[in-house]
Amino acid sequence: MTDAQISLLELSDSADLEPLQPLYEQSDGPSYGFLQGLLDQPHCRAWCLVKDKQPVAAIWYQCAAEQADMIDLRVLASERRQGFGRQLLWASLTALGDVSAVALEVRSSNAAAQALYQSLGFSETGARPNYYATPDGREDAVLMTLTLNISGSVT
Ligand SMILES: CC(C)(COP(=O)(O)OP(=O)(O)OC[C@H]1O[C@@H](n2cnc3c(N)ncnc32)[C@H](O)[C@@H]1OP(=O)(O)O)[C@@H](O)C(=O)NCCC(=O)NCCS
Repeated sequence: MTDAQISLLELSDSADLEPLQPLYEQSDGPSYGFLQGLLDQPHCRAWCLVKDKQPVAAIWYQCAAEQADMIDLRVLASERRQGFGRQLLWASLTALGDVSAVALEVRSSNAAAQALYQSLGFSETGARPNYYATPDGREDAVLMTLTLNISGSVT
C-alpha cells in the first residue's frame, strides 16, 4: 500500500456512479448500464474505494432479509494486487449491518477472486455447471458463502 488517501464511499445515486465508468469498460462481469439500474433498486447496496479522489474499486450487493448476494467486486486493472480488493470487501462486509450470510458466484477460472474470498473466510458451497460464457464455450460458476455475526464480523 502507498501513502495515498483512501476512503470508503457508499454509492447512493447516479452522480456517485459516473466516476466509476472506467472500472466497467472492459468488464466480463455486469455492465455499467446494468449497475446503474441496480442502484435504483431498494435492496441494492454498493460501495467504492476512493484513492486520492479517484475510484479504484467498487462492490455491489443485493440484500434480502439477512442474506446479501454479492453481485460484483472490481478493482481498476492498473490498481490490482495492492490490497484494494481485500480492503473494500472487508469494509463492505462490516458496513452491511444486519446480514448473517453473504453468497456469491465466481467463474471457476477466476483463481484470483476465489483466493481473495477464501482468505476472508468464504467457503465453496456448490457449482452451477456451464453458467458463464467464455470465448470458447462455457464454464462453471463456483458458489461461495460466508457466515457473519449480525454485527458484521466473520463467525
Ligand atoms: C479479483 C480482484 C477483485 C482482486 O482485487 P485486488 O485488489 O487485485 O486483490 P488484492 O490485492 O486485495 O489481493 C487479495 C488476495 O486476492 C488474491 N489475488 C488477487 N489477485 C491475484 C492474482 N492475480 N493471482 C492470484 N491471487 C490473487 C490473493 O490471495 C491476494 O492475497 P495476497 O496479496 O496476500 O496474496 C481483481 O483482480 C479484479 O477486479 N478482477 C476482475 C474482476 C473480478 O474478477 N471480480 C470478481 C468477480 S466474482
